[in-house]
Amino acid sequence: MTGPTPEKVMQIITGGWASSILGAAARHGIFTALEGNPATAENVAKKTGISSRGAQALLDGLTGLGLLILSEGRYQNSPDASLFLVKGKPSYLGAMAEVFLEDLGTWQKLPDAAKTGLPSAPYSADVADNPFWHALVPAIAALSFPVAQMAAERLGIAKAGEVSWLDVGGGSGVWSAVWLGANKGANGTQLDWPNVNKIGRGFVTNFGVVDRFQTIDGDFHTTDFGSAKYDFGIYAHIAHQEAPADNLATFLKFRKALKPGGTLVVNDFILTNDRTGHPFAMMFAAQMLVVTKNGFTYRQSDYREWLGEAGFKSVDIVPTPTPSTLVFAS
Ligand SMILES: C[S@@+](CC[C@H](N)C(=O)[O-])C[C@H]1O[C@@H](n2cnc3c(N)ncnc32)[C@H](O)[C@@H]1O
Repeated sequence: MTGPTPEKVMQIITGGWASSILGAAARHGIFTALEGNPATAENVAKKTGISSRGAQALLDGLTGLGLLILSEGRYQNSPDASLFLVKGKPSYLGAMAEVFLEDLGTWQKLPDAAKTGLPSAPYSADVADNPFWHALVPAIAALSFPVAQMAAERLGIAKAGEVSWLDVGGGSGVWSAVWLGANKGANGTQLDWPNVNKIGRGFVTNFGVVDRFQTIDGDFHTTDFGSAKYDFGIYAHIAHQEAPADNLATFLKFRKALKPGGTLVVNDFILTNDRTGHPFAMMFAAQMLVVTKNGFTYRQSDYREWLGEAGFKSVDIVPTPTPSTLVFAS
């Protein structure tokens, strides 16, 4: 009989190494250089402009992590690396790896944040137009992309006619880019900080649909959402940074802003009522601890309670192929 081995604990202990190797490889464009062109370590060093010693260390690490395949002295991308780590693909997660590497310093202070219950990040999420968003929102767009597509399919956006929506904290504008691409008669409005909206307009322009995309600059806590104005509301990856009372207040504003029969779509890392779920969603509570004063990973029952109190009669909770969950409230 074999007992437990140190394998799992060692894997977790070296988790920071793994994300650093990946972030560094993304920064130096190693996967992009290798796509369709298997190469030796020396070639990779030349193509990416890094030292031979550095290239060999990163290539060894990436091969150990299963992101590269080594055959006859040449390295090539694994299928995962090819799909998610080559620049220019809509599924590109390399920018997210870079942002998370930058953020590792904040995580070093997790023991302090756990002791005090206060954020250890230099910019907490409630700082207006926080520079962290400017790096984060384009980086996470690839994760939001398939979820926005899934929500569009469920709501029949493509055949919904001249509908409109308000995307609160829309960030890169990825939801509007996907929905406007699916429906040529639709109009999307995004409420976010001024500098984030600039990034959003640039992102949506790349999809050729910016003529039907409007932005409102402001703090969503203090901005009026309007009355019976929109067919859909979108609140994606925001609820986790807020205190429960603030989510309720925002859901009340959404209910008022929606036309009768309108639907609010919430997308977030959501746990079951007994606090289990996707491992990413379960670790996310610690991320909220280090970067927010009041944020958390909330349970399905929390969303049902707030949405019910805000006047939504029907709430459907649907898993997605990503760590996040979709909630449809009407
Ligand atoms: C995690 S990002 C989510 C972006 C996008 N919804 C998505 O799912 O890809 C959070 C977004 O909320 C915006 N945000 C956070 N607090 C805000 C506030 N008080 N007022 C306006 N926007 C805010 C940030 O600028 C950022 O774009």
